[in-house]
Amino acid sequence: MQIKPNYGNWMPRRILIGSLIVFLVSLTLSIIISYFSNNLIIKFILLLITGFFFIVAIYFTYAYWFIGKNDGALQKQFHHELINHLHWDGQGKALDIGTGNGPVAIKLAKKYPSAQIIGVDMWVKPWSYSKVTCEKNAEIEGVANRVIFRKSSALELPFKDREFKAVVSSFVFHAIRVHDRKLLIKEALRVLKEDGAFAFLDFFSNEFYGDIPTLIQEITSWDLKEVNYLDSIDSIHVPLLLRKDTVVGRGKILYGKK
Ligand SMILES: C[S@@+](CC[C@H](N)C(=O)[O-])C[C@H]1O[C@@H](n2cnc3c(N)ncnc32)[C@H](O)[C@@H]1O
Repeated sequence: MQIKPNYGNWMPRRILIGSLIVFLVSLTLSIIISYFSNNLIIKFILLLITGFFFIVAIYFTYAYWFIGKNDGALQKQFHHELINHLHWDGQGKALDIGTGNGPVAIKLAKKYPSAQIIGVDMWVKPWSYSKVTCEKNAEIEGVANRVIFRKSSALELPFKDREFKAVVSSFVFHAIRVHDRKLLIKEALRVLKEDGAFAFLDFFSNEFYGDIPTLIQEITSWDLKEVNYLDSIDSIHVPLLLRKDTVVGRGKILYGKK
């Protein structure tokens, strides 16, 4: 039997299980308290609280199911769009920041047969991604000789200036707590060669980056050859319920050349 790679689910299973546990605990407490109390107001408040946790648990279950269905088709579509916006000839080394279980790094290696790819990540919770799974996935996909994975932070990449011909990142920067996420973009561009290509997929929203036109304007002023911004990947169907940034969003890509 062919072993399949495991690229995980953007909705961490820990969050899903946590929300189900909170709902079950709240339901149990509500039943017990309602049994011993005759106060209708207390019963009503308990019903509201339990109802709220029920909706949250259902929402996370739906998100987890939708993202994972058809072998993670939605994630694959987003990764495909990200790589399509990377205007690179496939020569030299590429870096994937916050690689997760390595889907983008491995996809790049498969698309460009003479490229060397490095995937970095801190492999933090709540996700269950790991370096071991990345290496297994690369092995299964037949690119283990050209992809390496390394533990390091997007805040301080352990590479020299201008080391890579291409730099990519998929849904990572928003997940890192830093007072200004532009610093993460700056750090990613630091390791990119002159004329190198970049493509970053993330929730480019006010919540994470402040005013977006100002962000683009500032990045453009960093002496880059080309800066493009795609505000919505319309070719990918994301159900209305999951369009919220922090869940799946519409997929925004910042891409160009140094
Ligand atoms: C939503 S996941 C995306 C994973 C992968 N890029 C993908 O598209 O499937 C966010 C990733 O960011 C990683 N991450 C969080 N903080 C990081 C940091 N400071 N440096 C590097 N990666 C980090 C997490 O470990 C996780 O793998």
